[in-house]
Amino acid sequence: MELRSVQELMDLLHACRGAWDTPGRGGDPVDPHDHALQTAALVRRSRPADKELQVAALVHDIGQLLRPADPADHTDLAADTVRPLLGERVCHLVRLHAGGRVNAVDAPHADDVLRLRQACDAGKVVGLDAGVMEDWRTVLELVAAQHSRLGAVD
Ligand SMILES: [Fe+2]
Repeated sequence: MELRSVQELMDLLHACRGAWDTPGRGGDPVDPHDHALQTAALVRRSRPADKELQVAALVHDIGQLLRPADPADHTDLAADTVRPLLGERVCHLVRLHAGGRVNAVDAPHADDVLRLRQACDAGKVVGLDAGVMEDWRTVLELVAAQHSRLGAVD
């Protein structure tokens, strides 16, 4: 699956609400929808200017929704799915956020990945209000627009 529009991605993110049964969720106390919102909000607080890192935080676990019957690692699936829409850096950050996968080759991204991991670990607070998914639509559209402009250059 490749995401072709922000609307498709928004639909997927909305579908995370109440998706308690996805393998790989790891028994988190909040559902994937709230986890996405909390993780993105934490990244926004520490990196307010880095929209791509915020967006990576928002989508980092959507692989769980894409192939829920497959217990394998969903990280690569999520990364490949968002690449056409959100670009190479977001794809890279999503791919690297899973534990133990940053090495010397990935050094330019190491600090960003660490921030994403910290937010992922912390973004599991029951009852914490981290806003609503629609708040992220314009940010997603911004990142998608930047990516398609880059992609359009010959
Ligand atoms: Fe996570």
